[in-house]
This record gives sequence, C-alpha cells and structure tokens, in this order.
Amino acid sequence: MSTTAAKDGTEGYYTVWGEGRDVTFSGRQGVHDRLAAEQLAEHAARLARKNEALEDFAALVAHDVKSSLLSVLMSDEPRKVLTRALEIVDSILAATRADRADGGAAQGADCVRQAAADLGDIHAEVITTVTGEFPISPAALRIVLRNLLANAVAAGAGRIFVSAVARGDRRVLVVDDDGVGLGSTDRYATGGHLGLSLCRRLVARFGGVLELKPRASGGTRAVLVLTQVDR
Ligand SMILES: Nc1ncnc2c1ncn2[C@@H]1O[C@H](COP(=O)(O)OP(=O)(O)OP(=O)(O)O)[C@@H](O)[C@H]1O
Ligand SMILES: [Mg+2]
Repeated sequence: MSTTAAKDGTEGYYTVWGEGRDVTFSGRQGVHDRLAAEQLAEHAARLARKNEALEDFAALVAHDVKSSLLSVLMSDEPRKVLTRALEIVDSILAATRADRADGGAAQGADCVRQAAADLGDIHAEVITTVTGEFPISPAALRIVLRNLLANAVAAGAGRIFVSAVARGDRRVLVVDDDGVGLGSTDRYATGGHLGLSLCRRLVARFGGVLELKPRASGGTRAVLVLTQVDR
C-alpha cells in the first residue's frame, strides 16, 4: 500500500483500487486525486471496450467476408454476391459498435431470414418458427445465426430447424441440424476454427452465452441464451 501525505493538513482517508494495489490518499488533495484516478480508470475501461470492438470488427470482417468473397468465384451472379458481401461488412460494423448498454432488440424472424440469405445458395432447408424480439442488436444476431447456419451446412445438414423459447427473463434461440454431429473429424468441412469463438465474444458483449450440444437423434444443437436487462 502506498500513502500520500495530506498537503492541506485536513483529515480523511480515501482508498482507490486500481491495478491490483490499494492507494490511500488523505486530505482535500486526496479527494481530487481519487476523482482523477476514478476518471482515469473509467476512461481506460472505455478504451479497452473500444479496442475489443476493433479487434472483433477486424476478425469478423476477415472471417465472414472471406467466405462471401470466395463464393463470388463460383457464382454466376458475382455482382449480387459482392453486394451481399458489402452488406455483411456494414452489418459487422453495426454489430461491433453496439453492446448491452445500447439495449438492442432484434426481430428473430428477420435475422434468420437475413442470415440464410447471406449464405446464398445452400443445399439445406432452413425451417424456422422463431418469432418475437431478442435482447441483442439485429446485426449481431444476424452474424451469429449466419455462422451457426454455415456450421450446420459444413456438417452436411439437409434440414436446419431454428426455434426459440422464452424462460422468465431469458430468450433462448435454438439451431438444430441433422448433420454429422460433434466430434466428426473427417465429415465436417472445417474452416479456420474461428467462427464460434468470434460469435461467443460478440454475444458476450450482450451478456449472452452460446453453446453446442449433441442431439439425441443425431446432429448438433446450438443454443444461444440471452437475458433481458431491466432498464
Ligand atoms: N453444427 C455443427 N455440427 C458439427 N460440428 C460442429 C458444428 N458446429 C461446430 N462444429 C464443430 O466445432 C468446430 C468449431 O466451429 P467453428 O465455427 O469455430 O469453426 P469452423 O466452422 O471449423 O471454421 P470457421 O472459422 O470457418 O467457422 C468445428 O470445426 C466443428 O468441429
Ligand atoms: Mg464455422
């Protein structure tokens, strides 16, 4: 613990916790020092959040846009695919700018539709019963769903079911597929092993949790749990 002497002789001690150490200040000067330290800590936390958002933006652009651009090479309508890739960049920018404090509200059905459209022509049927709002930004939910649908496709799914349930203040979104299931090393079209971790970081900004589970009937279940915050 380090201590500053009271410069004006007044009594009173204040403790600031920062960088894992206690600093005790005293006197009127101490009050100013404490406020300055608190402001500095707040500023540092804000900068850290911005830095994280920038990292997420760069990683998501590299990850999600790369797959869109690759499909330009195989498309008969490259203009259409490029327009979609540009839209995806915009949605990533919007997703990484927002966080829980902004109180997002995504229309689940719209996000499923957009995510499926982002993938272009896929050999899987996407069936959805999702309705209502989810406490996350629409752009973020679209990115997460796009990645989950892409994973189901990589697992060779023929049918992907997207559903949702409400449990108290929680909204749970479920993506079920009938693909090869977890742990299949040779029948899953593995990419960079980045998609899920990027999505987990993104949903964590909204207080959400994303997990994968095996389905009893075969295939994989992705579960996204989002909690409504009281504002
Ligand atoms: N629906 C799924 N069915 C089976 N395995 C899955 C499914 N989703 C994810 N996995 C497993 O989890 C791993 C991690 O998924 P993740 O999305 O992070 O990486 P990826 O799809 O291999 O590559 P990319 O970075 O292009 O998304 C996958 O490589 C796969 O082994
Ligand atoms: Mg993936």
